[in-house]
Amino acid sequence: MALKSLDDLFHDTLRDVFYAEKKLVRTLPKLAKKASDEELSRAFTNHLAETQKQVARLEQVFEMIGKPARAKKCEAMDGLVEEGDGVIEDADDDAVLDAGLLAAAQAVEHYEIARYGTLIEWGKLLGLPKAVKLLEATLGEEKAADGLLSNIASRINLLAKSQGQDAAA
Ligand SMILES: [Fe+2]
Repeated sequence: MALKSLDDLFHDTLRDVFYAEKKLVRTLPKLAKKASDEELSRAFTNHLAETQKQVARLEQVFEMIGKPARAKKCEAMDGLVEEGDGVIEDADDDAVLDAGLLAAAQAVEHYEIARYGTLIEWGKLLGLPKAVKLLEATLGEEKAADGLLSNIASRINLLAKSQGQDAAA
């Protein structure tokens, strides 16, 4: 689609993040299953419920701008998920797997945080206060999810580090 205005960019980016969220809905159950740490697995499961709500919020935003809720392939999200799959395939130790999954999941959260931050700023400029409110609710959840993953990582990373030392010994 030709991008001729900030409205067009807003719509295009909305479609991008819609794709990303829907992809995450399909990916999180797999991450929850593969994570060996229970707290990490629970964090993935909890974020699945949240992500489903975020998809619904995006559908509301599409409605607010009078557009059909249609996703647009997001290469960035596909790439991030692919990298996570690579960790699952290659990890040879539970803690190393979990540390790698945490890193992949945080990269996804940071991507989403960047996207929502942009949409919020554009939404403000475009006079879409109701959409901005919904997007801000999601951004808050993404930041909280990222913070929770950081907390879990501070424990798991140490486990992964001592595993490497055992292997070297
Ligand atoms: Fe999300």
